[in-house]
Amino acid sequence: MHVDADDVVVTQGTQQALDLVARVLLSPGDVVAVEDPGYRVAADLFASHGARVVPVPVDGEGIVVDRIPAGARLVYTTPSHQFPLGVTLSLGRRRQLLAHAARHGAAVVEDDYDSEFRHEPRPLDTLHCLDPTGHVIYVGTFSKSLLPSLRLGYLLCPPSLRPAVLAARQLTDGYGPPHLQAALARFIDEGLLARHVRRATRVYTERRALVLEELARLPVAVVPSAAGLHVAAHLTDDAVAAAAVVAAAAREGVELEALQPLGPGIREGLVLGFGATVTGSVRPGIRRLGRLLAGAGGSPTTPGPRRRSPASR
Ligand SMILES: Cc1ncc(COP(=O)(O)O)c(C=O)c1O
Repeated sequence: MHVDADDVVVTQGTQQALDLVARVLLSPGDVVAVEDPGYRVAADLFASHGARVVPVPVDGEGIVVDRIPAGARLVYTTPSHQFPLGVTLSLGRRRQLLAHAARHGAAVVEDDYDSEFRHEPRPLDTLHCLDPTGHVIYVGTFSKSLLPSLRLGYLLCPPSLRPAVLAARQLTDGYGPPHLQAALARFIDEGLLARHVRRATRVYTERRALVLEELARLPVAVVPSAAGLHVAAHLTDDAVAAAAVVAAAAREGVELEALQPLGPGIREGLVLGFGATVTGSVRPGIRRLGRLLAGAGGSPTTPGPRRRSPASR
């Protein structure tokens, strides 16, 4: 993307970026369209500002733009790697979303939280790049590329919004920790961030390939994705409850998330993060999951703590 330093507002992660956007753009009762399933933290944040949060379905091409209410003041989306499903917003949908925003005067928040880690070539242009009219606010973070505890991120907003965003930042926390920002700026200037992302991408791509290879043996349908640090997979056996599998897996030291709490209308499924693990634990972890799924198959009952799964032997 072509931006000047002045276009960038440094924030304490995505969280603060979304909070600033909400402070500047939303009034109580405004409609905010969010993805369903989606990032609960964002939906809760907009709701905390009094917005009426409207879930909009996601399909294989990303957010279904036709289902965004015409009156939505703001649309929150994760185009590069939809959270949690992982699909990429297609080019057609990107254009349709920008046309929607221009027609209805809506702001679009593009949360690009983990696309530094691309596992397949040819990324699509960001909404921010494709947007000729200044409706897109692009939000980036170092939580995935470096560390969530840094609490550093940024937003790129149209020049007309910048003074209000800066004023809101000043009011809420002043300016954040300058020594951390300076250290990170140096890390970037010296090419170390780019080098880290290149190296880490190699590790994550290898880890993800293992995840996909192991999942291919399980009764799940993996949702195609091209970037990021997690994959989502729907359970193919309707009789299995993902939440029960997640609980049983946790008892065996395998950490997963169920899809459903992130979008209640969605088919049962699992979210498998592979960022905060070691490559060597992927195969054994997913095999343990496989044994739990096999044990849970055909029965909607919870694999309970007293039932000894083969994996725990
Ligand atoms: C969709 C999404 N956006 C952003 C983030 C990062 O948030 P923050 O930058 O506030 O740490 C995450 C972290 O899990 C996420 O899942």
